Amino acid sequence: MCGIVGYTGQKDCVEFILKGLTRLEYRGYDSAGIAVMEKGRIGVRKAKGRLKNLKNLVEDNPLKGRTGIGHTRWATHGEPSDINAHPHVDVNHQIAIVHNGIIENSYVLRRGLEQKGIRFISETDTEVVVQLFAYYYKDDMLNTLYRVLPMLEGSFALGVIDQHRPDTIYCTRKGSPLIVGESKEGNLIASDIPAILEYSRDIYFLEEMEIAVVEPAAIRFYDEMGNFIKKESSHIDWDMEAAEKDGYAHFMLKEIYQQPKVLADTLNHYVDLEKMAIRREMMPFSPSEAQALDKLTLIGCGTAYHAGLMGQSLVSRLARLQSECDMASEFRYKDPIIEKNEAFVVISQSGETADTIAALRLAKASGSKVAALCNVIGSTIAREAHQLLYTVAGPEIAVASTKAYSAQVLVLMILALDLAHLRGRLSDEELKAGLAELAALPQKAEALLEQKEHIQYFASRQFNCKKIFFIGRLLDFYLAMEAALKQKEISYIHSEAYSAGELKHGPLALIEEGTLVMAMTTQHHVMDKMASNIQEARVRGGTVVAVGSSPTPELRAVAEVWELPPVDDRFAPLLAIIPMQLFAYYMALQRGCDIDKPRNLAKSVTVE
Ligand code: AGP
Repeated sequence: MCGIVGYTGQKDCVEFILKGLTRLEYRGYDSAGIAVMEKGRIGVRKAKGRLKNLKNLVEDNPLKGRTGIGHTRWATHGEPSDINAHPHVDVNHQIAIVHNGIIENSYVLRRGLEQKGIRFISETDTEVVVQLFAYYYKDDMLNTLYRVLPMLEGSFALGVIDQHRPDTIYCTRKGSPLIVGESKEGNLIASDIPAILEYSRDIYFLEEMEIAVVEPAAIRFYDEMGNFIKKESSHIDWDMEAAEKDGYAHFMLKEIYQQPKVLADTLNHYVDLEKMAIRREMMPFSPSEAQALDKLTLIGCGTAYHAGLMGQSLVSRLARLQSECDMASEFRYKDPIIEKNEAFVVISQSGETADTIAALRLAKASGSKVAALCNVIGSTIAREAHQLLYTVAGPEIAVASTKAYSAQVLVLMILALDLAHLRGRLSDEELKAGLAELAALPQKAEALLEQKEHIQYFASRQFNCKKIFFIGRLLDFYLAMEAALKQKEISYIHSEAYSAGELKHGPLALIEEGTLVMAMTTQHHVMDKMASNIQEARVRGGTVVAVGSSPTPELRAVAEVWELPPVDDRFAPLLAIIPMQLFAYYMALQRGCDIDKPRNLAKSVTVE
């Protein structure tokens, strides 16, 4: 998705901006550009493709100045090209802007400006905004922003430079994140924290429609009505090392390997392991709230949705509380029935997914309590929810989510145990026993990672396959969905997740000699059923791998087994996902795919 960086200070801005854009590369993009105030005039360089193309361009044709803005673009309006790349400038070359988000009424606005004689050179919605700024500009950019912003429908994070005030960056946001960072070397703006973390740890999070006027030695904030406001900065203490590869070939592999620590850190955050007791202050529901609940709805997109499915199943099963999981992209359009005593958990690694933000706002508007299960403190979702359920996963860089998923599922397991206990479905002893099982997971995950060679070898024999089925029942079906998504995202192999009992109702027709079937078999009370489903696939030529702990002889007879350490069925999917992540990784590696930045995908989907 698009990324923004800007700098104004006493130093050359180009280095700051290009470094910041490099830190944003993981988000996925198709072109990049930079605009610099050079001796009172705006210089622009833009290049389609990877950032190195822009860097080469700037090397051949340098820019020099102390104030500038940069952008990585992920095309929405207009194909990826040099012309459509940001920054965009107005016809008089006096204002340049970078923009994240989508201006939904850009067509109408563009027609209006064209009728006034303004000629456009790109196909983008962003150019409409800069031309509006120029058209309505009187004597001050701040006033111009107040004039133009109400005309814009949709979402935006904007960084603006203006020849009339050559050392100032103006920025604002609606629906897309934007932060301002303070540093001794100058001040910065960015769409994401990692972009400027090297220079600034004191970050201001802009709220909807706030405007920041950023100068080398001062930052002023204004609200939507034009009132000057005082804002507090947040200190970010992430370790910079956490945003590096640390010797791993890819961020994804590093993040898979971080999972034992992430599980341990997240567990410690919620559970006092000495007393084997849940830290009450971390949980979203008090005992009386938990007892009064009639329904818990979980909402997310992609991997976060899959974590939610796991969560809703555990909450229903353990706490006997009605629970559903919705896709955030559907929730607001389905006219949901929201119960009086219904609460929500919205799940998002980034905290900036547009559909999930919209679902959160709808749930809040219904008067329900909304907790956010989120990995980025200070993100929109983390700030807007009534309570933050923080996943202690550290920055996740690879587009394919791994460690954030594990942390999300773990927190949902703790939440399910807590609700079950508070609603009288689990005794004190049973709760302690459940928590002790969870406490053993990090070590078991560590042991699993040591078995990566056989997965690597298996991938070296299978990487040319055309399709893969991932099957399972109950929790294992949700696990299969996540395993299939990982495979699709990074190896581009057509992967279908199917509920194992449904195979014979249609998809069995697709099984032929050599079709790869990955069977999730962690749920012992349906293991015999799984063995029958596997047999159905096998006799039609399928090659079947079963993933689970303590396999029965029947299962061993029909499939190659990837065995997990012994583990409680309720929590087993948290271990079983690890070999599936490694499998996707090694398949993608064999196929020469761009693992950390898969085609067509972005790390955080900030547009609908
Ligand atoms: C995960 O591998 C995907 N890249 C994607 O499905 C992701 O989980 C989804 O876009 C939601 O993102 P979020 O957790 O940041 O809201």
